[in-house]
Amino acid sequence: ATESLNKVPMPKASSALLLTWSDTFPARVLVTGSSTGIGEQIAYEFSRLGAHVFLTARREEQLKQVAKKCLALGASSARHIVADMSDLTAAQKVIEDVGNSLGGLDYLVLNHVGGSEYFGPFKGDMAAVSRSMTINFLSYVQLTISALSMLQESQGSIIVVSSVSGRIGSPFTLSYSAAKFALEGFYSSLRRELHLQQTNLSVTVAVLGYINTDNAVRIVGDKIAWAANPKEECAQEIVKGGVLRQREVVYPYWSLKPLLLFKEWMPGLIESLMDNTL
Ligand SMILES: NC(=O)c1ccc[n+]([C@@H]2O[C@H](COP(=O)([O-])OP(=O)(O)OC[C@H]3O[C@@H](n4cnc5c(N)ncnc54)[C@H](OP(=O)(O)O)[C@@H]3O)[C@@H](O)[C@H]2O)c1
Repeated sequence: ATESLNKVPMPKASSALLLTWSDTFPARVLVTGSSTGIGEQIAYEFSRLGAHVFLTARREEQLKQVAKKCLALGASSARHIVADMSDLTAAQKVIEDVGNSLGGLDYLVLNHVGGSEYFGPFKGDMAAVSRSMTINFLSYVQLTISALSMLQESQGSIIVVSSVSGRIGSPFTLSYSAAKFALEGFYSSLRRELHLQQTNLSVTVAVLGYINTDNAVRIVGDKIAWAANPKEECAQEIVKGGVLRQREVVYPYWSLKPLLLFKEWMPGLIESLMDNTL
């Protein structure tokens, strides 16, 4: 674990964000899949707000580098744990470690993605579907179950990083799309249930388009005609939506929101517009 105490954070954020943030400052934040990509940027955003950040992914060297940068950006502390989310016991252990070292949790950011790098026609590979569902859906649920009592105690927040592929069926990424649809079902139901039980725990789902992370560009860069959007701005929007306890973040807003609105009324048109970008 890398730690630095007595740091004075220099947040760069909107006043509404800072006002809301000051209620929980300095918040304790777990970001999964934070060794690279959007998760790494989310960790930096929370660090700028002075959070205690807890990072997890499989590659330790990358996590150490990210933790170092978190401290330089103003994190109150930066710890990490190596875990493979294809193992649900490892997911449970991550939360145990968070509880032991931070004494609670304010933000659970579920962001990791894996097991579904294949972009191509569905070949009926059941093992691939099962792997994707475990890493990209069941581990999110396991982390949530394990962290629920800490989040209820802190009246905290769950931020779920999803995709337009969880709202509109996506050819060539069936296993991934299935996991994202499952996330939408689980977390929108959980949000309503918490509300009915008058539990003050927010659930924010981030619906993302194409973002310029190294892995996304490598896997689909030469296969789709969409322009990639910056991961830094994407992370800012996700953190802002989470801290402001919004139910949904759509990024990039102006390209995705019309698709999401019109898909109910004109599904054929929206799908053929999207098919033209493949
Ligand atoms: N980029 C896009 O265009 C895009 C679009 C829509 C939605 N999203 C969503 O945004 C989120 C982040 O995407 P991204 O592009 O930033 O992904 P990324 O760059 O591929 O990063 C994925 C992260 O997950 C970790 N990871 C992968 N397999 C894992 C496993 N088995 N166990 C634990 N950690 C694992 C990786 O670290 P290790 O390899 O070190 O384990 C890495 O930190 C995902 O939920 C994704 O679905 C992205």
